[in-house]
Amino acid sequence: MNICIIGTGYVGLVTGVGLAELGNRVVCVDIDRDKIDKLKRGVVPFYEKGLDELVKKNLKEKRVFFTTHLEEGINDSRIIFIAVGTPPREDGEADLSQVIQVAEDLARLMQGYKIIVVKSTVPVGTFQLIRKIFTREKKEGVDFDIVSNPEFLREGDAVYDFFNPTRIIIGIEKGREKVADELIQLFRPLNAPIIKTSIINAQMIKYASNVFLASRVSFINEIANICERVGADVNEIAKGMSFDKRLGEGYLQAGIGFGGPCLIKDLKALIKMAESYGYEAEHLKSILNKNEHQISHIVLKVKKIVGEVLYGKIIGVLGLTFKPGTNDVRSSLALRIIDLLKREGANIRAYDPCGIEEAKMCISDIDFCTDPYEVATGADAILILTGWEEFKKIDFLRLKKLLREPIIIDGVNLLDPEKIRSAGFVYRGVGR
Ligand SMILES: NC(=O)c1ccc[n+]([C@@H]2O[C@H](COP(=O)([O-])OP(=O)(O)OC[C@H]3O[C@@H](n4cnc5c(N)ncnc54)[C@H](O)[C@@H]3O)[C@@H](O)[C@H]2O)c1
Repeated sequence: MNICIIGTGYVGLVTGVGLAELGNRVVCVDIDRDKIDKLKRGVVPFYEKGLDELVKKNLKEKRVFFTTHLEEGINDSRIIFIAVGTPPREDGEADLSQVIQVAEDLARLMQGYKIIVVKSTVPVGTFQLIRKIFTREKKEGVDFDIVSNPEFLREGDAVYDFFNPTRIIIGIEKGREKVADELIQLFRPLNAPIIKTSIINAQMIKYASNVFLASRVSFINEIANICERVGADVNEIAKGMSFDKRLGEGYLQAGIGFGGPCLIKDLKALIKMAESYGYEAEHLKSILNKNEHQISHIVLKVKKIVGEVLYGKIIGVLGLTFKPGTNDVRSSLALRIIDLLKREGANIRAYDPCGIEEAKMCISDIDFCTDPYEVATGADAILILTGWEEFKKIDFLRLKKLLREPIIIDGVNLLDPEKIRSAGFVYRGVGR
């Protein structure tokens, strides 16, 4: 099948190359010239495990193509995926400007029938807007269908998730089952459960899923804070809970809270969406508030152990990305915490295995280091903010010699407390 993907970010690029790997001919379009130039040369503009090889292979086999010209992408494609960003606006609502721009451009360029599949996460009401734009802008006689196909991939495991999706949601307009059948055909090789539903249901499935994951993180952090007071270990609690099939084990990792490009944004957008339909989503607001409190809780933890006055103290930070396995720092809580520490007058030295260049674009006035030992040199404490596996392999005896004070505050419960304490450190985790 001939396919066009608009937007070659995390979602668009993985989907495009994944569909190419399944044997389709895929043209990926992006307005970012630099990104497209890199991709044409087989260079992936961000870090995602396994994606590099997949791009190179499908370029070589001439199944995937990259361009900045939309018409090159859509002319021969029957199915067009929209995978552009929907970042949060200042007030929490989803910023739909990228989606609107694409809809306008597409509608003007389309010469014949197309199936427009929206992968971007967009609030209820957006599809009416897209339909309106297409109806207004398209040439006479040119027909189209619109479909919602929300994405559930996890950055860091995006390639795995493309080939092993937990479910595929296809939201269609009433009476357009034939359109759904074409997409089912496209996704059939993935062998995943396929749920055919209405467009609104598809959108709400995406929002509800993300918000539920966020709620689990806020929940376990609440339990963690109680654990700290009663003397329990939240990791043991989460493990004990996870054997119950009704509860499962995902997203029960206590720590600094949930960050990243999706959970906070989608939670805020759902709260706003509910508001616009006259409903105050109190429970959802409390999930968000808990996440904000957790950030302050971590800063208080640092002050409690390093000293109430952070002015002039050197805090060594390990981890800048919103989670391990990615160089994405969008809405990274590590950066938020660093900012709060800086406001208290602390000097920050930081290291991340993958996200330093991206962090440099978001945060200034900190010392970026080349490894954990440089971070530790002369620091008053080490603060771990991303759970990179490589931090477990640090030579802690060497680290201790470099630190001014042997203090480790483990914001993501990455390390074994006993091991670290027996190496002579003062160790503080979250909820343990
Ligand atoms: N990143 C994730 O983990 C994830 C997971 C599930 C769903 N989503 C959703 O998928 C959507 C995309 O997310 P992302 O993280 O891939 O975004 P991204 O910011 O990484 O990528 C968006 C891309 O769209 C391009 N773009 C913008 N306007 C364009 C235009 N007019 N024409 C062509 N290209 C254009 C940008 O240059 C960029 O490369 C969002 O709605 C997001 O909420 C993201």
